[in-house]
Amino acid sequence: MGRVALFVLMSLLAVSAPAVAEDPYIYFDWKVTYGTISPFGVPQKVILINDQFPGPNINSTTNNNVVVNVFNNLDVPFLLTWNGIQHRKNSWQDGMPGTNCPIPPGQNFTYHFQVKDQIGSFYYFPSIGMQKAAGGFGGLRVNSRLLIPVPFDPPADDYTVLIGDWYAKDHDVLEGLLDSGRSLGRPAGVLMNGKSGKGENDPLFYMEPGKVYRYRICNVGLRTSLNFRIQGHTMKLVEMDGSHTVQNVYDSLDVHVGQCYSVLVTADQRPRDYYMVASTRFTKYILTATGAIRYNGTQEGPDPDLPPAPVGWAWSLNQWRTFRWNLTASAARPNPQGSYHYGSINITRTIRVVNTIGNVGGKLRYAINGQSFEETTTPLKLAEYFGVPEKVFKYDTIGDEPPADLSSIVVAPIVVNATFRNFVEIILENPTKGLQSYHIDGYSFFPVAYVPIPTPFYIHRMGGAKWSPEKRRTYNLIDAVSRHTIQVYPGSWTAIMLTFDNAGMWNLRSEIAERRYLGQQLYVSVLSPARSLRDEYNSPANLLVCGLVQNLPLPPAYT
Ligand SMILES: *[C@@H]1O[C@H](CO)[C@@H](O)[C@H](O)[C@H]1NC(C)=O
Ligand SMILES: *[C@@H]1O[C@H](CO)[C@@H](O)[C@H](O)[C@H]1NC(C)=O
Ligand SMILES: *[C@@H]1O[C@H](CO)[C@@H](O)[C@H](O)[C@H]1NC(C)=O
Ligand SMILES: *[C@@H]1O[C@H](CO)[C@@H](O)[C@H](O)[C@H]1NC(C)=O
Ligand SMILES: *[C@@H]1O[C@H](CO)[C@@H](O)[C@H](O)[C@H]1NC(C)=O
Ligand SMILES: *[C@@H]1O[C@H](CO)[C@@H](O)[C@H](O)[C@H]1NC(C)=O
Repeated sequence: MGRVALFVLMSLLAVSAPAVAEDPYIYFDWKVTYGTISPFGVPQKVILINDQFPGPNINSTTNNNVVVNVFNNLDVPFLLTWNGIQHRKNSWQDGMPGTNCPIPPGQNFTYHFQVKDQIGSFYYFPSIGMQKAAGGFGGLRVNSRLLIPVPFDPPADDYTVLIGDWYAKDHDVLEGLLDSGRSLGRPAGVLMNGKSGKGENDPLFYMEPGKVYRYRICNVGLRTSLNFRIQGHTMKLVEMDGSHTVQNVYDSLDVHVGQCYSVLVTADQRPRDYYMVASTRFTKYILTATGAIRYNGTQEGPDPDLPPAPVGWAWSLNQWRTFRWNLTASAARPNPQGSYHYGSINITRTIRVVNTIGNVGGKLRYAINGQSFEETTTPLKLAEYFGVPEKVFKYDTIGDEPPADLSSIVVAPIVVNATFRNFVEIILENPTKGLQSYHIDGYSFFPVAYVPIPTPFYIHRMGGAKWSPEKRRTYNLIDAVSRHTIQVYPGSWTAIMLTFDNAGMWNLRSEIAERRYLGQQLYVSVLSPARSLRDEYNSPANLLVCGLVQNLPLPPAYT
């Protein structure tokens, strides 16, 4: 059987799988409040979920229906988004300001989504303004179903490690800074599961000698790439952003904002405590968080000498080039991951986006192809669904090619109209001095360009950031890791490929919070011409309405 035929057969099997209703449900009631923590010794206002910081981990299994009733007890509107969860046919649950009305203070909204055909490590975070700077985030793992083989033995335990830079300022103070045209500046430090490690003696995790543990590491911070490592231990990489990888062994990993990695760690060292370390990369001053792991039964504290972080861009790039998809491992289904041969599909559209930094009215803005995204009070998805898009936004205000003159910036909502099921190539060019990290909701994609090493780097920075069609010859068309967030180095570019087969309105954003807040994001509208339940769900019965659509009748339901 040919590859394509096999893939088609698998797809048919998928369609005829048992009805959605038979998949198990898991329920959560979440109370969102302000609270106080002091990670650096100074009390600070943060966002708690069920009194926890970070929020509770969601432990789910492929195809589970996840029902989360979120009670907003803050004094400001609130929304959560589920970074990396694909919400097949269901952008109604994506929880971005362009897809959902915010949950008003004192009210609740029940998210209901299925972790359909997914496995791996993800996280959720508050999607409005700079609320993520105050917490409200937590881990979300999707286990493989019992009968699906996992490409490693079951670990003795499974630990979630959320690392991120931390500004130690209220989210409204940070919003004020950005609104007044300034930049966020340097973070105050780094947190690991809500702690800086300073003055902490209690371990975060325990390991029994001889056993193997899975650690899921996500960078939930605002802007800084972090290097993660464990004293005295190597890490076997097994999964990233929801795909099983080739199992290389690393001393440390660069984790960029928005990304998640799973590693296996064997407790094969002398029993004592060991530090996990997360330290900032590409920053003038290196900030570090630590958290201890204790071998059960030991009394000996960790060595205060921390393993050093790697230095420089090239190291990071070289590490990235070693990441490969494991083509023979199972994913959410028992078929090998490689039965989807993205490299043999013809590209139907190439979208080239260039991110720039500029000024509008004397204030800092970040732009994509000369436009800087502006939030609307009516979510874009609702404007489109209720049939009044023209009152809220214009389609395709940016082209598939950047304009020749990128010096002026227009501030407006940005909605790119995509054709359902098109296979596209998106080129992400970053001619700025800072690292970019791009994410798209609703999909995972193949980052195919292991960017030709820019040597010497400064030459690349001065114009080397440009992509050209002959660069396609350098693409990895075989085993790039399917994922949802990809870094783009300064003065560099990368290319991603994906099929727009998930109908809905999807946010493509910079995961760097300041860049996103000040304009580097857009939405992709993927409409199925059939307007059928086969392709997209109807709006849920508990849909929150706001803005211009508040008093409009619901459009006829899809059947
Ligand atoms: C998570 O779910 C798996 C599979 O149902 C279960 O084996 C495991 O004990 C759960 N872990 C936690 C921490 O609840
Ligand atoms: C709010 O919570 C109640 C249950 O306490 C639920 O019935 C209702 O659907 C929720 N509201 C929304 C908009 O989801
Ligand atoms: C890929 O997964 C297969 C199937 O589980 C496993 O046997 C193999 O060792 C993995 N290969 C690598 C290179 O990690
Ligand atoms: C290791 O120690 C921790 C903390 O005392 C305990 O919770 C855990 O159950 C222990 N594990 C084993 C296998 O004894
Ligand atoms: C891709 O395009 C080439 C050239 O236009 C064509 O010959 C080939 O059949 C196409 N392949 C597929 C899978 O559509
Ligand atoms: C979006 O694209 C589709 C397919 O090309 C087209 O049919 C539709 O009219 C477009 N919609 C808008 C609003 O431009």
